[in-house]
Amino acid sequence: MAHAAVVAAVAGHLPPHVVTNHELAQRFDTTEEWIRTRTGIVQRHHVRAGTATSDLAAEAGRRALASAGEDHADVVIVATTTPDRPCPATAPTVASKLGLTGVAAYDIAAVCTGFLYALQAGASAVAAGAARRALVIGAETFSTLLDPSDRTTGVIFGDGAGAVLLRAGARGEAGAIEAVHLGSDGTLADLITVRAGGSEQRAHPDDEAHADPYFRMDGRPVFMAAVRRMTESAHTVLRRTGWAVDDLDHLVGHQANIRILHAVAERLGLPPERALVNLDRVGNTAAASIPLALAHGRRERRLGTGDRVLLTAFGGGATWGAAALTWPDLPDLQHPPAT
Ligand code: COA
Repeated sequence: MAHAAVVAAVAGHLPPHVVTNHELAQRFDTTEEWIRTRTGIVQRHHVRAGTATSDLAAEAGRRALASAGEDHADVVIVATTTPDRPCPATAPTVASKLGLTGVAAYDIAAVCTGFLYALQAGASAVAAGAARRALVIGAETFSTLLDPSDRTTGVIFGDGAGAVLLRAGARGEAGAIEAVHLGSDGTLADLITVRAGGSEQRAHPDDEAHADPYFRMDGRPVFMAAVRRMTESAHTVLRRTGWAVDDLDHLVGHQANIRILHAVAERLGLPPERALVNLDRVGNTAAASIPLALAHGRRERRLGTGDRVLLTAFGGGATWGAAALTWPDLPDLQHPPAT
C-alpha cells in the first residue's frame, strides 16, 4: 500500500482567561445578541501579557506527544499569524520548549488556512520518508493584534493552540491523510491584513505616525470568498479521494463564523449537524482553529475510529484549502485536559 501520514495524536490548549460577549458589549458599541447571532460566538480565550504564542503551541504539542506516548518528533511545524517575534521563527522556540532542540523546525504563514498548509508540509515529509514523526501545530495569540477600537475584529478572534502528531503509515488505514488541496489568490491580500512590521511598512520609530500595526479585515467579501473557496476546495479533495458527499461523517471547517460553516455544509449538500462546531466557546482562533476543533471533537467523543472527516479553511492571502482523512483509533483520554 502507498505510504501516507497517519494521525497519531490530537490535542489542544487554551489560555485560562475567558472573555464573554457580555464583557465585549461593555467595551464596544455592540450587544451580546448581535455577536451570538451574527457569528455564533459566545466566548473566547485571551492570553494575559507574558504568555507568547510559543507557550500555547508548546503546551498543545506536549499534550499531543504525551497522548501518543511519544517524546520525539523529527520535525516541528508551527502555523501562526502571531509569531513570538517577526524574526526568528517561532517553531525552533517551541521545539526547544518540548525538549527537541536539534530537530527541523519552521513556521508557516497562511493565516486561517495555516494549519492545512502545515498539515500538507508535515504529511509530505512523513509520506516521503524524510521524517518518521511530524508535529504539526496551529497556534495564535490573535488578541495581541486587535485594534481596541474595532468592534468587527474585536468580537471575533480568540487565542489558542492545537496540535496533531503524524506518523508513517499506509493509505486506507484509520487516521490516514488521504488528500490535501491548497490554493491562493494574492490579489485579495488587502481583505485580511496587518500593514505594519514588514518590508512595505517598516516597524521603525520614525514611521510610527503612519504605520498601522493592527489586524484589518473586510468582513463581508471575506465571508463570501470563504464560503465559495471552502466549498470548491472540499469538492476537489472529494474528487481526489473518490468519496461521495454522503460518505462524509464530519465537516470540520475553519471556525470563522457559524453562518459560514452552515453555508458550506448546505452548498455541499450536508446536514448542518455534520459540521463540527466549537467556535461558540473559542471564537476564531485562525491557524489554531481546525486542530482545536478536532481536539474538542475527540474529547467529546464525537469522532469515531474510521469516520470520514473533511477539513476545510479560508484565510488571509487569500489562501484556502481542504483535507480528507479518516479518524484514527486513539486511546481514551484518562484525564482529559480542560481544553
Ligand atoms: N456589533 C454590532 N454591529 C456590528 C459589529 C458588531 N460587533 N460589527 C459590525 N457591525 C455592523 C457593521 O458596522 C455594519 O453596519 P452598517 O450596516 O451600519 O454599515 C453591519 O454590522 C453589517 O456589517 P456586515 O459586515 O455586512 O455584517 P455581517 O453580517 O457580514 O457580519 C462579520 C460581519 C465580520 C461577522 C462577517 O462578515 C464575518 O464573519 N466575516 C468573515 C470573518 C472571518 O471569519 N474572517 C476570518 C478569516 S476567514
